[in-house]
Amino acid sequence: MASVGSSVVFGPATFCAVTGGSRGLGRSIAVQLAGRLGKGSRLVLTGRSLQGLQETKRLVEEKCSNKLEVTLVTGDMEDSAAYPALFFDIFADAQPGAFKNALMIHNAGTLGDLTKKAAEHSDPQILHKYFATNLTSVIALTAKFMEVFSDAAVRRTVVNISSAVAVEPLEHHSLYCSGKAARNMFFKVMAEEEPDVRVLSYSPGPLFTDMLQTIKSCGVKMVEDGLKTMESQGLIQSPDDSAKHLLRLLEEDKFKSGAFLDVFDRFSL
Ligand SMILES: NC(=O)c1ccc[n+]([C@@H]2O[C@H](COP(=O)([O-])OP(=O)(O)OC[C@H]3O[C@@H](n4cnc5c(N)ncnc54)[C@H](OP(=O)(O)O)[C@@H]3O)[C@@H](O)[C@H]2O)c1
Repeated sequence: MASVGSSVVFGPATFCAVTGGSRGLGRSIAVQLAGRLGKGSRLVLTGRSLQGLQETKRLVEEKCSNKLEVTLVTGDMEDSAAYPALFFDIFADAQPGAFKNALMIHNAGTLGDLTKKAAEHSDPQILHKYFATNLTSVIALTAKFMEVFSDAAVRRTVVNISSAVAVEPLEHHSLYCSGKAARNMFFKVMAEEEPDVRVLSYSPGPLFTDMLQTIKSCGVKMVEDGLKTMESQGLIQSPDDSAKHLLRLLEEDKFKSGAFLDVFDRFSL
């Protein structure tokens, strides 16, 4: 592993945006990044909860000895009409010349209604909102990132926080599975088209976060029992450990652009 601060990925002045930075894995990624980002870096955290974002910022600043600029941007990814304003705030005053690296981490995510089977998702409004949050926002934000950092002189990296269920069907998770599968393929295509950009889809493993709590109490016995089994097998990860694993993959920089890797080193797709 490259030593902290000397890493090509995080050492020089880096622009880094993490969606869903208000809790869970996004908070862990932000805090783990804190000690690694070089002088002149900016960390942008997004989410709906300002309180959650402020707490993440506090944790980042507590850990960070150098003065890291942390910008908080609140907004709801469900509302695609609000994207122009939201994206403007994410990249506000981001002068490409000021950064040697640019890193976009698409981490925000939701499960959708787990009580429904695949054949029961009949409401197009709900589907629209689900895919706006979990797919459209990711594609549109990536386009904005590429527009702002259009110069190949800036080392650009895009990370898609994915899931094993992108490739393994899971009952009652059809929206979640299909959203993650679509994202994986979107980024595979992008990796083919943009050889100058490093692209990684990362499955963080089952994590002790609010998302897991939602699954635990979703009211569908089969889903709840599946989670209990995973818990009893010790498969649930701490978000901090999974965030460290992701940052190690980025620092080692050995992955093929567009690859799908996971915390258990099970995939190399
Ligand atoms: N937890 C797991 O077991 C697990 C397993 C595999 C993959 N993952 C993936 O890891 C990522 C992080 O999951 P997590 O477990 O940390 O989830 P989490 O604890 O539920 O956090 C989700 C994050 O997404 C943000 N978010 C949710 N809906 C949003 C919306 N409409 N607009 C803007 N931001 C929104 C939340 O911020 P606000 O509430 O402040 O908006 C929060 O910061 C997700 O992509 C998830 O699919 C998780």
